[in-house]
Amino acid sequence: MNAYQAVKFLHILTVVFMAAPLYNLIVVNERLRFGKAPFAVDRYFENLIKTNAVRCFIFQITAFVTGILLILLGGQSLSMLFTNSVLLAKFLLLLVLSVLLSYVHFGLQPHIEALLSQVQGSEIPPEIAQQVLPWRARRKKLAGFCLFFVITLVLLGLQVFVRFDPLTTALLLALAALFSWRVYKTPIPYGWV
Ligand code: HEM
Repeated sequence: MNAYQAVKFLHILTVVFMAAPLYNLIVVNERLRFGKAPFAVDRYFENLIKTNAVRCFIFQITAFVTGILLILLGGQSLSMLFTNSVLLAKFLLLLVLSVLLSYVHFGLQPHIEALLSQVQGSEIPPEIAQQVLPWRARRKKLAGFCLFFVITLVLLGLQVFVRFDPLTTALLLALAALFSWRVYKTPIPYGWV
């Protein structure tokens, strides 16, 4: 068995599973389209988003561990993480993603949970709904940035050993930003648009 190939497979599979910002944004935009709904709908929606954060932490750790293993199994020293500029950029972007996720999970989500825990009955009172709104709006904005960073990480991952032409990288980055903006704004019913 070739350990490098097996770890590389796991690294890429983890990256696919790091698509939470994309699907969370789709869920959030679908929730908006759904309109006024019983409290149970909101609770279910919040449970999905809240538990996705925990899954995301696990996938971030897996991406880091498998990435480090790829360096070591490739016969390189760990210092490559700092001497290879693409790997360094990947490492820093992964750190940014962890910080953003920690802020959402430990800083922002508890405010939403505290407000929703005050709801009695099957309807959310308008004053609570009003207070929840700015927290959800901030979380949604951050998810848009996270999506852009994940796409950027994929683009960087493909250039660890052989770099793309800079113009191609710049163009793909612009498209990544455009797509992230689009997913932030609409439920992208046709996948790309
Ligand atoms: C510090 C953390 C990470 C390290 C040290 C690392 C390291 C590596 C290495 C050494 C490769 C080259 C594998 C090869 O071409 O044989 C690679 C490929 C790749 N990485 Fe990472 N990685 C890290 C995090 C991430 C993250 C967070 C993502 C995406 C969310 C990612 C996405 C990719 C992709 C898409 C490839 C391309 C594999 C290929 O087809 O060649 N990596 N990574």
